Formats: sequence, structure tokens, C-alpha cells
Amino acid sequence: MIIDEILLHLPYKIYDHMKELNLKSRITAYQLDELSSEERELIQLAKEATKSSYAPYSHFHVGAAVLLGNGQKVIGCNQENAVLPAGICAERSAIFAAGAQYPDQPIKVLAIAARDTKGEFTKEPVSPCGVCRQVIVEVETRYQLPVKVLLYGQDAVYVFDSIREIMPLTFAEF
Ligand code: THU
Repeated sequence: MIIDEILLHLPYKIYDHMKELNLKSRITAYQLDELSSEERELIQLAKEATKSSYAPYSHFHVGAAVLLGNGQKVIGCNQENAVLPAGICAERSAIFAAGAQYPDQPIKVLAIAARDTKGEFTKEPVSPCGVCRQVIVEVETRYQLPVKVLLYGQDAVYVFDSIREIMPLTFAEF
């Protein structure tokens, strides 16, 4: 026991059994016109949803749209609050709205778009925060279906087939 405690504080190289985990993310960058019409439509909804964002503090307007198993599309946007943690991101706003309206429907695709403080859509895609990633992981677990993610940017749209691509070593069950 004492030896274990000492080893924990020594440099890694002393562990000859140490193995390195190289975690990879598979993300593809597309131009908008390379996507399917359904995907483009979902991105358009996410872009429009930025207009109903309530972001008086950050002035960063984020929109999200989800496509459900039954074909319904549900939007969300960030909703801020003077008590900052009381606000919510666009992704969770859309996911929770979909969960409230269609609890039995899996989320197949999630699109995200954002306008910066000048009101322009970001050139680079905006990526979900860690809390939203965790929520999306739970959506995948709940419905046993990966959520395809479309991150819109003016220069490129990043696409990946599951949130796990950007959320490795996921904590999903206990
Ligand atoms: N935000 C989102 O809604 N989604 C993201 O993916 C990143 C950040 C919001 C939270 C907050 O209202 C504002 O953007 C600035 O962080």
C-alpha cells in the first residue's frame, strides 16, 4: 500500500506497463451544398433559431434544431439569465423541448449555428459545450441511437456521426 502511494507521485516513465491511449475523432468538413437537402434544411432551421435567442449578456446568439425519428423538427436557442448558470445553451433548449413534446422519439440529427456579437454567422463552426455533450450522450444512450451532429460555419460544416466522436471516455452509466 505504501509503495503504491509513492509510485503515484513519481513520473509516468517508471511504469513499464504504461500504455498510451490515442483517442481519435472522426469529423468531416463539408461545404453546405455537399449535404443532403434534409441536412441543409435542419441547418437553416438552426440559423433561423438564432433570431429567437435571448442573449443580452454574451450577445452570442446560438440556434439548434433536431430531427426526430418521426420526421418532426424541433428548434431551440440559448436563453440567458442575469444569474448566469440559470441560462441554457441552444442545444439543450432544443433537446429538452423535443423530449417534452415527443418523449418517445429518438433524435437522429442535431444542427447548430451561431451568430457572433456583430450578428454575423460564425466562420468557424461552434462546438457544443461539455454539459451539452454530456446531455447528448444521454440522448444516445436513452434511445440507443447515435446522434449525427452538424456544426454550421460559413467556411465549413463539420459533421460527425455520434457525439462520442467529441466526447471520448464517456461517462454514461453507473
Ligand atoms: N452557447 C450555446 O448556446 N451553445 C454552444 O454550443 C456554445 C455556447 C451559448 C451559451 C451562452 O448563452 C452563450 O452561448 C455564450 O457562451
